[in-house]
Amino acid sequence: MVNYKATVHTADLDNAGTSNAVFIKLVGTDGESKSRILRTFSGASSFKRGAVSSFTVSCPASIGKLVLIELEKKHSLFSPKKSWFPAKVEVKSPEGETYNFPIYHWISDSEVHRFREGTALRVFEDSHHHGLYSREQELCQRKRDYHWHVYAEGIPQCLKALDIWHLPSEVKFSLRKDLEVVYTLQSGLLQLKLEGLANSKENWSDIDDINKVFCSRKTEIYDYVRRHWKEDSFFGYQYLNGINPILIRRCSALPDNFPVTDNMVFLGGQFSLADEMKKGNMFLCDYKRLDGLEVNNIDGKRQYLMAPLVLLHKTPDDKLMPIAIQLKQTPADDNPIFFPTDSEYDWLLAKIFVRSADFNEHELNVHLLRTHLLAEVFAVSLLRNLPMVHPLYKLLIPHTSGTLVINNLARALLISENGFFKKYTATGGEGVTTLLQRSLSSMTYSSLCIPEDIAERGLEDVPNFYYRDDGLKLWDIIHRFVQGVLSFYYKSDVEVQKDSELQKWIAEIFEHGFLSQNSTGIPQSFTTVAEMVKFVTMVIFTSSAQHSAVNTGQYDYSGWMPNSPVSLQHPPPTTKGTTSKATMLQTLPNKGATANGMAVLWLLSQQYSDFVPLGHYTQDHFCEKVPCKLIKAFQTELEVISAVIEARNKSLEIPYTYLDPADVDNSVAI
Ligand code: FE2
Repeated sequence: MVNYKATVHTADLDNAGTSNAVFIKLVGTDGESKSRILRTFSGASSFKRGAVSSFTVSCPASIGKLVLIELEKKHSLFSPKKSWFPAKVEVKSPEGETYNFPIYHWISDSEVHRFREGTALRVFEDSHHHGLYSREQELCQRKRDYHWHVYAEGIPQCLKALDIWHLPSEVKFSLRKDLEVVYTLQSGLLQLKLEGLANSKENWSDIDDINKVFCSRKTEIYDYVRRHWKEDSFFGYQYLNGINPILIRRCSALPDNFPVTDNMVFLGGQFSLADEMKKGNMFLCDYKRLDGLEVNNIDGKRQYLMAPLVLLHKTPDDKLMPIAIQLKQTPADDNPIFFPTDSEYDWLLAKIFVRSADFNEHELNVHLLRTHLLAEVFAVSLLRNLPMVHPLYKLLIPHTSGTLVINNLARALLISENGFFKKYTATGGEGVTTLLQRSLSSMTYSSLCIPEDIAERGLEDVPNFYYRDDGLKLWDIIHRFVQGVLSFYYKSDVEVQKDSELQKWIAEIFEHGFLSQNSTGIPQSFTTVAEMVKFVTMVIFTSSAQHSAVNTGQYDYSGWMPNSPVSLQHPPPTTKGTTSKATMLQTLPNKGATANGMAVLWLLSQQYSDFVPLGHYTQDHFCEKVPCKLIKAFQTELEVISAVIEARNKSLEIPYTYLDPADVDNSVAI
């Protein structure tokens, strides 16, 4: 007889423990143990939340190198059915070897569940018949659990699920997070009801009254925005370090539909457009994707959304100043170009229309599509095509946490027929789908990779551009980490080419996420290690850093509604000199839309208890020394950059914290 020592770790999570009987079977290259019940003197508490319990499993002789374990849970009359969430099992063999089995799955039924030994294996090196069989079974089950679904033609496909309660247990929020989200939303809505604002159709008569909404929920940046939102330099600043830093680009030639001339914008003759463009001092923001969108009706009232063009000038003192705004794409007499020299309310209203266009472009394209929906595509393809023992599953699974739930909620509560967008924003209804379709069809792979994106937009040397500075550093650190881990497993390009599971992962992303559009430049397959490393870097960057950059500051920058109106109730002026403060107040969203917008943005900008900072992993999927060391080095590099960002922010009027790794979540989880 030989003895194996099995140590079972039950996860330290809500409801993770069970009092049901647990059985284990060890399967090795030379044989297998019998399935045996795991019993200790501690009895029912052996598998309570956070418990670590050891057992002896005896075999007549050594069963060789361990390949997998089978776990089974049985309830009885005295021990009613109770799900169990084991974290991992360690088995010490009589030869003195320790084998690790990552589990991290809910066991709810009385079926046999197989879990592989943790050493990563690609399919072409997985030679043991028991291992291969369990690999195939695992992927078959996953394909039964995770189906692609067409939510709307022309946008990335998503996971098929009736609602969040029908999602597989592994991808659900924790109970605590469910409660936190419900509490944050309900308490916000209750406060609005108490303040009499939830359904108010009244217009604001005094803009300062907006500050009384949600008075207990403010941030320092919200307060800064409230005080500075009218200033041109702050309007320009937001294109670099606000929540939509991906629209602005250097302008080397004015578009034909934006006929700005020197004497319109440089009255004193101190600059010329041609010279300033040559010097790289001119910038353009073009909202052409919004042109001709079907615009929402709210409470029977038509809303207005423009597709502006904004010209900005970098001044000698490094400020980015808007110098011309045209609100519609086609030049016409009733589509004036507005300038800072116009009347106070003509210019302010022009900027308000731009900021409202930016709200809709940001929420639907920059935030929802380019982070949430893409992260879901990466996750669904991962779950369908890569078994737990695959190195890429181990690397990417922490970066998918919470994504499938939050996206399901977004579809149900934000962009559905009765959702927030339909009720309160300019793009509600058809406009949402059309904008998402246009955004996907104009998306490029290079725009998802920040080094290429910054270069393509000509923004390498724009001063005070912290999104770029921090983003490039994070990309670099993530890239080095991914390269380290993946080149440990893939020693040649041939190995990449012959990994059929990896190839299926990228093929489904191309097909179901990017709808097989070659124009995106997204790879359909990988031929080299370098291609795979770059793509995986983009996946982690998009799911963590990019999402943080466009998500975390939503309340900061859009909570003060006039800086970011969800919709506008009046058309813009068609001639100059006709506007006043009263025009502005009639144009801004009414009290109900303002207040509900604030409640949703507050909900989406909070940090919840499941927050895990970038590079920190709550599950031990890797067992080999090299990736474990690389994770430590990754964490150290992130700590260093976090300290640098914190020190930099001390000297800034507005700190830029959204890419501080300590505040960046590993995944799209809100
Ligand atoms: Fe988000």
